[in-house]
Amino acid sequence: MPLGDHLTQITNVLVIGCGGAGLRSAIEIKKSGLDVCILGKRPKTDAHTVLAAGGINAALGNLDKEDTWEQHFIDTYLEGYSLGDPSKVEIMAKESPALVKEIDQWGANFAKLKNGELDQRFFGAHKYRRTCYSGDFTGLSILKTLLKKADMLKIPIYDNQYVTELLIRENTCFGAMSFNMSSSERTVHLADAVILCTGGHTRLWKKSSSRKNENTGDGYYLGLKAGCKLIDMEMVQFHPSGMVLPEEIEGTLVTEAVRGEGGKLINNEGERFMKNYDQKRMELSTRDKVAIANYTEIIEGRGTKNGGVFLDISHKSKDFIVEKLPSIYRQFLEAQMLDISKKPMEVAPTAHYSMGGILVNPETLSTSVEGLFAAGEVAGGLHGANRLGGNSLAEIIIFGKRAGIASSDYSKKIDQQLRSNKTIALAHENINKFIKNGDELVRPLQHELRIIMWKYCGVIKNETLLLEGLSKIESIKTKLNNIDVRINKHNCEDLALIFDLQSSLLSAKATIISALERNESRGAHQRSDFPKLDSSCKFNCLVSMDKNSNLKISKLPLKELNEKLKLIIANTRVPKAIIGDLNAQLNGVSAGANALKRIVNKFGQGEFFFWNVI
Ligand code: FUM
Repeated sequence: MPLGDHLTQITNVLVIGCGGAGLRSAIEIKKSGLDVCILGKRPKTDAHTVLAAGGINAALGNLDKEDTWEQHFIDTYLEGYSLGDPSKVEIMAKESPALVKEIDQWGANFAKLKNGELDQRFFGAHKYRRTCYSGDFTGLSILKTLLKKADMLKIPIYDNQYVTELLIRENTCFGAMSFNMSSSERTVHLADAVILCTGGHTRLWKKSSSRKNENTGDGYYLGLKAGCKLIDMEMVQFHPSGMVLPEEIEGTLVTEAVRGEGGKLINNEGERFMKNYDQKRMELSTRDKVAIANYTEIIEGRGTKNGGVFLDISHKSKDFIVEKLPSIYRQFLEAQMLDISKKPMEVAPTAHYSMGGILVNPETLSTSVEGLFAAGEVAGGLHGANRLGGNSLAEIIIFGKRAGIASSDYSKKIDQQLRSNKTIALAHENINKFIKNGDELVRPLQHELRIIMWKYCGVIKNETLLLEGLSKIESIKTKLNNIDVRINKHNCEDLALIFDLQSSLLSAKATIISALERNESRGAHQRSDFPKLDSSCKFNCLVSMDKNSNLKISKLPLKELNEKLKLIIANTRVPKAIIGDLNAQLNGVSAGANALKRIVNKFGQGEFFFWNVI
């Protein structure tokens, strides 16, 4: 089998993805004395990390002295409906204070109190003020800091590189194949170890906080094909507040910090409606509940004429808003000529975060494939059925660092890098097969998929819709046989798009088959045909790929809490809101379940799901 033309690049550890998790892991690898190289498909200064705007959590207790890592553990684990891996949650809660302080000292320059300690704001469902922040551009500030650090350490970052597949021999990863998205030049990257930090798949939904060409499920495709398993893929977080207008940027995030700083949600009757869904916590309830509340108000006819609800912060002074929420202030001014210090915003739920992902060892971030690690949004196991805002930025620096350390240790034990010319030749073939003329174009098919996911696998799902969604995805897949992908010396965007689409179709299918497996409503997973939380569903959904590239679904028994963590829960005051809410979910009388029942009574199990989709 002839090898195609390519450059060869050799390193100790290859990091795929140049967002926060990728950069943080590379820094650790370089510090350990090894060579590392980062590949990214998007510009390195504009990774998705910048979208996590409102803050990063650490139980520092700077304002609320009672806060502890134990309380952070409880809030995260129980608000995730006990579906997360308890050891992963424990690691995050314990390690975030030190790493948040570290990144502040590296230059993230978070907001400070008069005594010089980090300021902390409220974020949804945290018992205490725990979220450290830089205005409402915390992700951007972290990304810039990590880039500066990587630059100082002379870590090479190649953006504009599309990774088409991981190179595997005998269940061991020895590198990756990529092409340059402008020149189409291919590179075979040989490495002792590879870390996937490629983000999630929420761009698959029509209304999404992810931007064009990001979070298209690439990491799930690469991982599954390499032999990894995916966990909790049905757990897709809809953020309660995405922009409604203009259509081109519909779904763009309106940070939770708006609610953290006092923003009120109001329907078209002028009612502050969160009192009907979570009287105690109101707008600072969990994301799943606020998203369901916004959704319900909209589809029951109490929304705005543009299909949203009002989010109002205009009772605060302009100076306050410009200091605490500078990006959002500008965002509405630029996009809608709206001064949010004078008028309310319109917002609606938007697909925001993939809580599931590649199954990893929580300590080392290693996967079931030797030499392959995964960190950040692409990895699963931390958030369970509902992610608390501010935990994603904590996740990327904590588990990025750990993946860096574990992959370096692994690399140091390797005597000789593996190679397989056959694998490399096949990777070339897998690119070549797409380059041909045909009648189908990728962008329209991507658009079709985004509408399918919104309609059939959206905020509320049921079996009929999910099955219909699955069959529509299969029909897009058959169109790939007749796809038109042309490249030239200066542009091979089509080639990148077809790989994106291939990844998106596989991730969509993994999500739907997982959603079909979970016959209950839990957190972000809301089924109108199973409106109650079912305490007998003590499993995580697991998706794997068989030898014929078919996806298989199975159930993984939930990881039990160890005795130490059980004691922590027994000895720490679990917020009443959590207990009351959990009981209500179990009895099918939670606000979410009630809303589901009302919706089904009014509209049946069908058309209402198609809310606001063209
Ligand atoms: O709303 C936000 O600022 C998002 C933060 C997060 O997803 O953690």
